[in-house]
Amino acid sequence: MRIGVLGLGSIASRVAEDLAARGHELLVTERSRVRSAALARAFDTVRVGSPQSVASECGLLFLGVTGKAAESALAPLDFPAGLPVVSFMADIEDDDLRGLIAPAKLEATMIPFPWIARTRSPILVFPGTPVLESLFGGRHDVIALPDRDTLGEYLTAQAAVSPALKLAETAATWLGAGTGDADGAERFLRLLIGSALMARSESGELGLADMLKDLNTPGGYNQRLRTHMEDAGAFDALVAGMDILRTGGAGDLGSSG
Ligand SMILES: NC(=O)c1ccc[n+]([C@@H]2O[C@H](COP(=O)([O-])OP(=O)(O)OC[C@H]3O[C@@H](n4cnc5c(N)ncnc54)[C@H](OP(=O)(O)O)[C@@H]3O)[C@@H](O)[C@H]2O)c1
Repeated sequence: MRIGVLGLGSIASRVAEDLAARGHELLVTERSRVRSAALARAFDTVRVGSPQSVASECGLLFLGVTGKAAESALAPLDFPAGLPVVSFMADIEDDDLRGLIAPAKLEATMIPFPWIARTRSPILVFPGTPVLESLFGGRHDVIALPDRDTLGEYLTAQAAVSPALKLAETAATWLGAGTGDADGAERFLRLLIGSALMARSESGELGLADMLKDLNTPGGYNQRLRTHMEDAGAFDALVAGMDILRTGGAGDLGSSG
């Protein structure tokens, strides 16, 4: 089945790369020329076409434009009746999108993450659908959510990845400044934090609470630093920030993505 990708921005280009690397035939829009040309150069199975050809010559269509650009990108196009459409847009109401793509069908909203072409990664979908499970299920962890509200909760919590990375980057910078070896510092902290998060006990994954307990030696480095940050309000600020995002005050902390 040929897969169309309309809007080849930072997230759609990574999904396209992941699919192309696994041999899927893709038709992508030309706009964002550096990305579309690079994909077509790298993969024999990727062709570049006009938005209308992408909309009408594929068996499945991914939408990678932003919610803001959706109306100007989609309203001029004619969509085949029943064409399954998967949207990456978290920032548009489903009913508005359905109106723009009719008589095509909104199959699902899918939230991928930018490292999808590099490693196994989670993908949020609502609703779960066999087509996404068969395209991504072997390589990635497809997490099908039961309703729109739950997708909203997950979208909010996923924003914790940026402060988590910032924490790791801050520690790596601090270590690199002290040792004079920035690369070694970053490598060590990535290995340490990554391996901790992926550690498994014999009965399955180790819970985060169990790992925190293991790192809670009284008076030890980990306990002292965590307590320092708790006292400084760092974790309360994280929860307050997620509450603000979830209750619709997203403008206070930046918009989508
Ligand atoms: N970034 C993430 O990690 C992430 C993850 C999951 C979901 N999302 C969601 O995915 C959506 C896209 O995000 P993004 O970060 O990838 O945005 P982005 O980098 O700005 O990509 C949007 C793309 O759409 C293109 N475009 C705009 N109008 C078009 C048209 N008429 N025809 C064809 N292409 C058109 C833009 O081209 P120009 O640059 O030339 O305008 C750009 O390449 C957003 O709704 C976002 O919330 C993002």
